[in-house]
Amino acid sequence: MSEAPVALVTGAGTGIGSACCRRLAAAGFRVGVHYRCSEAAAHRLAAELPGAFTLQADLARPEEVEALIVALKEAANRLDVLVNNAGFNVNAPLPAMKLDDYDAVAALTRGTWYLTKLAVRRFMLRQGAGRIINVSSVVGHTGNAGQVPYTMAKAGLDALTKSLAQELAGRSILVNSVAPGFIDTDMTRELPEGIREGVLQRVPLGRMGQAEEVAEVVQFLASGATYVHGSVLHVNGGLYGG
Ligand SMILES: NC(=O)c1ccc[n+]([C@@H]2O[C@H](COP(=O)([O-])OP(=O)(O)OC[C@H]3O[C@@H](n4cnc5c(N)ncnc54)[C@H](OP(=O)(O)O)[C@@H]3O)[C@@H](O)[C@H]2O)c1
Repeated sequence: MSEAPVALVTGAGTGIGSACCRRLAAAGFRVGVHYRCSEAAAHRLAAELPGAFTLQADLARPEEVEALIVALKEAANRLDVLVNNAGFNVNAPLPAMKLDDYDAVAALTRGTWYLTKLAVRRFMLRQGAGRIINVSSVVGHTGNAGQVPYTMAKAGLDALTKSLAQELAGRSILVNSVAPGFIDTDMTRELPEGIREGVLQRVPLGRMGQAEEVAEVVQFLASGATYVHGSVLHVNGGLYGG
């Protein structure tokens, strides 16, 4: 019997990350459920999914990213799909935005890059195959008032996808982004009601997306889509066409 492929999903104790874990587990992956603070939710989720395991790390801290790779090696000893889903946002107009806010957002981008580097080096190049899926955002393409560091980070994540796709072409490692629009999760529930209403009015499908609708596209990139490489797939109900 062949070994189940392994997928690591970051920020998987909540929202889109949890939905990705469920979807990938249903597709036959053994899932690494990564969390930073959402410990109870991550453990509950892993207990539901056959073969799943949890991994804790603050990706803003390089030493915790390194420990995460060691823990992954011990738990599964392989990695077929990395879903860089963890994201962090601070909402504030530019004059009120603090240097610490910028640094907190940028540190997660650095951690995503570092985790990707270690995952490629320690697992995917050795295995001779892999898939990397970066969960970016529509606002990395359209911009968004009050979210300058976040939109910079998300545009950077799509640039990571495109550069890495070129670098890893020929190594059988496919790299793509999924860029969600306005999805019903904790991140959007925190927005003031007026802002939520304003965004909804601009969505042609007239509703927020569900985490599962993003996870469906992540799974497509994880297990099908053999000729999709260096692309950004938009999942936004028509808000932006790319
Ligand atoms: N919801 C939307 O409308 C929307 C739209 C576009 C893009 N996105 C993107 O989709 C992804 C998932 O977001 P979501 O909507 O599901 O929101 P969410 O529930 O707030 O999820 C964000 C996740 O990121 C993790 N995280 C944050 N900072 C971290 C750090 N320093 N180290 C490790 N993990 C960290 C959190 O882990 P803990 O809870 O364990 O701390 C959390 O699970 C994010 O990248 C987000 O930017 C969301």
